[in-house]
Amino acid sequence: MSILVTGGAGYIGSHTCIELLNNNYDVIVVDNLCNSSFEALKRVEKITGKKVKFYETDVCDKNALTNIFKENKIDCVIHFAGLKAVGESVKKPLEYYYNNLSSTLMLLKVMKEYNVRKIVFSSSATVYSSDNEMPLTEECKTGNCTNPYGWTKYMGEQIFKDIANSDSKWSIVLLRYFNPIGAHKSGLIGESPKDIPNNLMPYISQVAVGKLKELSVFGNDYDTPDGTGVRDYIHVVDLAKGHVAAIDYINKHNGLNIFNLGTGVGYSVLDMVKSFEETTGQNVPYRITERRAGDLASVYSDPSKSEEFLGWKAENGIKEMCFDAWNWQKNNPNGYDE
Ligand code: NAD
Ligand code: UFG
Repeated sequence: MSILVTGGAGYIGSHTCIELLNNNYDVIVVDNLCNSSFEALKRVEKITGKKVKFYETDVCDKNALTNIFKENKIDCVIHFAGLKAVGESVKKPLEYYYNNLSSTLMLLKVMKEYNVRKIVFSSSATVYSSDNEMPLTEECKTGNCTNPYGWTKYMGEQIFKDIANSDSKWSIVLLRYFNPIGAHKSGLIGESPKDIPNNLMPYISQVAVGKLKELSVFGNDYDTPDGTGVRDYIHVVDLAKGHVAAIDYINKHNGLNIFNLGTGVGYSVLDMVKSFEETTGQNVPYRITERRAGDLASVYSDPSKSEEFLGWKAENGIKEMCFDAWNWQKNNPNGYDE
């Protein structure tokens, strides 16, 4: 069975390619490398001993995308391609709406033309409205997004819902990720931010490796046990395995289904710093600063629907997440740019 993976050279995409290849799927990647490196795919091949067919193509380019469907017999698509930096999306809304929505629309149009109606979409916990009680179930209210990136995911979900309503032959899974961190156990692939990281774990890793001076902890006056923000961190390999489970599910069920991919456990910023220091033996200097605009106090999932219907459950804990993030960072201090 052939899976087309858009954005497959990226952080989550590359880890998912490994799990797909290990489960004997054929993998075709389309990525324009705007936020990734071809080196990641070479390492995927090294880890698995299997080939990945690669197209350096923009998913918004209809002709190029059509050629990929012409040249390959594609059974199912996983759509990771997209821009994902929350802060950047506030400064460049047009780029975010254009890229994230046009790529999705173009992909769905070409899939329909080639009669491919199975797709997994990378959604996000960011689609949940800020006034929900924790933990978040798939039934919780969505909307009220605080930035253009979040709206692209919300609108993306709506496009998929309307398509599923219009034609029962589609089989669609929307996966709402919580906070993916960590890296493959080999230390060969991981998260390789092009600029100064926005997210907590890559920032901590770069402080530990000496590239950045100290971590700014954005606020310690939230209504949480230690006052710092609480999130549901999930090991990227567990997240990747969730996609294999979703493909399995899609092959057996039509219609649209939504699943949270999280652990159900929340950790604070200071929990993460402490665990990283204990697990790796590295020092992570930090300073408490102002809250970051748009951040919520606590966000964590109820992952029970995924366990019941996908037969999937996150296996790695906070120690593995910190250890594997550090293993990748210390072996690749400059990410793939060496
Ligand atoms: P990433 O930036 O590492 O991967 C995205 C990939 O898509 C990159 O390789 C990039 O080059 C490619 N891409 C972007 N636009 C493209 C286009 N028009 N055509 C072809 N390729 C294109 O990000 P990631 O962390 O691996 O995230 C993957 C998906 O998961 C994204 O859709 C993201 O929004 C979503 N997501 C990520 C997180 C997170 O915290 N990492 C959380 C929730 C949802
Ligand atoms: N934080 C710091 N200092 C930093 C970076 C982050 O204190 O330098 C704190 C934040 O305030 C927050 C926590 O660490 O409390 C996690 O922040 P991240 O930026 O790592 O993650 P977010 O929960 O803000 O957002 C992430 C992705 C979004 C996605 C969301 C839900 O960046 O794209 O998870 O899936 F939508």
